[in-house]
Order: sequence, then structure tokens, then C-alpha cells
Amino acid sequence: MDAGASEASDLGSAVAIPPWLVDQLARRAEPGRFLPFDVLIDAVLYDPQGGYYASAPSPLGPEGDFYTAPQVDPMFGSALARRILAEFDRLGRPDDFVVAELGPGDGTLARDVAAALEGLGAPSGWPYYLIDRSASLREVALARVRAEAPRGVVRVEATSSLGNLGPIRGLVFSNELLDALPFRRFRRRSEGWEELGVRLAGDSLVPVADPRTPRVPTSALPASAEEGTILELNTVAEALVREVSDHLGDGSALFVDFGAEETELVRTRPRGTWTAFADHRVVDDPLAALATADQSVFVNFSRLRAAAKQAGLVERSFRPQREALVDWGLEGAKLDATSNAESEEEKVRLHLASKQLLFGFEQFWAWELHPPERGPLRA
Ligand SMILES: C[S@@+](CC[C@H](N)C(=O)[O-])C[C@H]1O[C@@H](n2cnc3c(N)ncnc32)[C@H](O)[C@@H]1O
Repeated sequence: MDAGASEASDLGSAVAIPPWLVDQLARRAEPGRFLPFDVLIDAVLYDPQGGYYASAPSPLGPEGDFYTAPQVDPMFGSALARRILAEFDRLGRPDDFVVAELGPGDGTLARDVAAALEGLGAPSGWPYYLIDRSASLREVALARVRAEAPRGVVRVEATSSLGNLGPIRGLVFSNELLDALPFRRFRRRSEGWEELGVRLAGDSLVPVADPRTPRVPTSALPASAEEGTILELNTVAEALVREVSDHLGDGSALFVDFGAEETELVRTRPRGTWTAFADHRVVDDPLAALATADQSVFVNFSRLRAAAKQAGLVERSFRPQREALVDWGLEGAKLDATSNAESEEEKVRLHLASKQLLFGFEQFWAWELHPPERGPLRA
């Protein structure tokens, strides 16, 4: 019998969940106990048995649930390849330069970067690490780059974490990774902030506020928010930024993602930013689409930038994706693509794709960081 199906709270109604998720959540907390969102989303997206990113086929692209910039056109990867080469030059063209992509998804971007690097005359055999937590996507990405990228330009390898590489010199980057990492949710009450989550009841989840710690320390969250405001914090993304700082000996880290400053989130999105996508559409109730839809939140860049600073990373730039693409060389990427186009229709398509990359990604930011000058890496 479904003990929780008829339950509801002021946060919404209970939703039924599949048996594998019931088992996984029961392992993480006793039935009836509060589960914060980061625990829930970690299971839903990344559980190796049933998690959204653990199940084939890839959720990206026309057959999947959502598009990212690399899916729009290879010009995105071509512009990024130019940025990678600029970093290589900036570091004095070192022999141990590596490229590390965090969260490569289906490998589309890696394939396009590799192809563009060849065209731009990069040295052959650069290590290109595909770093993905999902074992199935690691395989998909690796297979795509091996099958579809020109051979010899990059030496592609897949691994589960940046920590496996040791200290590195080069460029670490991600596109739309930070928004896909587990997050925590808080709601402002008159007396302070409370943490939101769920409670497992039978084979259902009931949305609830944490009954154990009714108030979150107010110094951690904005005191001025109006009652009822919901704010998400990207706690796992903050940890990932610290991991990047721990391993990037020399070079740059570059994150492209959607988000906003905390004051703007509180002012313009008081109901929070948690969104689920399935079949290229926003799902009405993300809780009802657990494990069958992409789950994401806006990146709270104020918190992330503070975490990066505390971890010792120095910000080089934080600007709209559009500005970064122009700076990296999207125009050159477009010229190259247009000169290889075999028809007028293809030229028009390329023109429209470059417009989409420049103007279709509102709220997307390119954030570049570097370690403090630490002197040369030791072997
Ligand atoms: C929204 S997809 C983005 C895919 C791709 N970057 C793109 O733009 O098309 C997020 C990817 O990040 C991966 N991921 C999640 N957590 C990760 C982590 N801690 N380290 C590396 N990759 C992670 C997921 O498995 C998935 O491949």
C-alpha cells in the first residue's frame, strides 16, 4: 500500500517514485526521516543503478531531453579550441600541457575541439581527459571522440575525477556542468531560513521542510529576502571548484554555465530556479519527474565565486557567454566553417547557428580563473 500517496504539505503533494529509487533513498536515510535536496538529487541523477546520467542512451541532443551549446554547432568547440591554444601560448608552450574537460556528456564538444585543434595546427598527441562521474557517459564520450575526431591530434582518455590526474598544467573547462550538480534548497520564513527536502513515505516522497533544524544560521543566507523566498545553493559545485584549485598547478579553469548573482536570484526568482526538462520541454512539477527528466538549478555565482576565492583561485574574467565567444574567436571559427561550406544553404545555417550561440544563451556566463603564481610545477 502506498503510505504516502495521499499526503501533502504546503510545499506540494506526495509523488510516487520507482522501486530502485525507494531502495536507494532508504539506504541514505531511515524511512520517515528528512532527506535534503543534495542527497535526493545525487541519487536521482547519478546513482549507478538507475540515475538519469547513468542510464544509456545519452540524454543530450535531438533524441534526448535538452540541447547544450555544443549541440548547436561545432563552431562552439572551434572557438574553445582557439582559447585552449591561447592558453598554451600564454604558458610558453610547455611539453606537459593537458586539456581536461569536466562533464563531457556525450563527447560532442570534445570531438569538435579535437577537430578544430588539428585545423589550427596544435601539436599532436596532447592529452585530452574526459572527466565524467557517469561511467556510461564516459564510454559514450570516449567512443565518439575515437570514432569521429581526427586521429593523432589529441590522446584522449576517460576518468572519473580530476583528482586522478594529480597536479596538472593546462586548461580545465566545463560546459553546463555546475547547474547539473546536486544542490540544497532553502526557504525564508519570518523567523529565519529553513532547509527544504523530502520525506520517504512508503513508495512516495513528500516535500517537507527540515523538522530537526528549523532555522539555518542566518549569517549564511541573505537576511533581507522576503518571506517565502526560495534560494538554492550549489554546494557540490563549490566543492568541485575547490577540487580544481587543488589540482590546477598552472594554467586556467574555465566554466560556462547559466546562473546569476545571489541578490538577483532572490529579487527576480523568488520561487527558486529548480527546473526539470524532458523531451525539450519544462516539466510542470520537477518532483514528479525524478529520474525521468534532467534536473538543474541556476548557478548561484556569488557563492561560487566566494568559494573559488577562498580556495585560492584568482578570477580572470566573468562575462556573458556572448562576450567570451567573441573574444576566443567565434568569428574566426565561423569564417573557417563558411569557407568549407558546400552550399549557400549551409552558409545560411552557419550564420544562424553563430547568431544562436551569441544571442540564444541568455543568463549564460563564462567564468575564467587561474591559480596564484606558484612557480613551476615539480615533476
Ligand atoms: C548537463 S551535462 C553537460 C554535458 C556537456 N558538457 C554539454 O555541454 O553538452 C552534465 C555532465 O556532467 C557530468 N558530471 C556530473 N557530475 C560530475 C562530476 N562531479 N565530475 C565530472 N562530471 C560530472 C554528467 O555525468 C554529465 O555528463
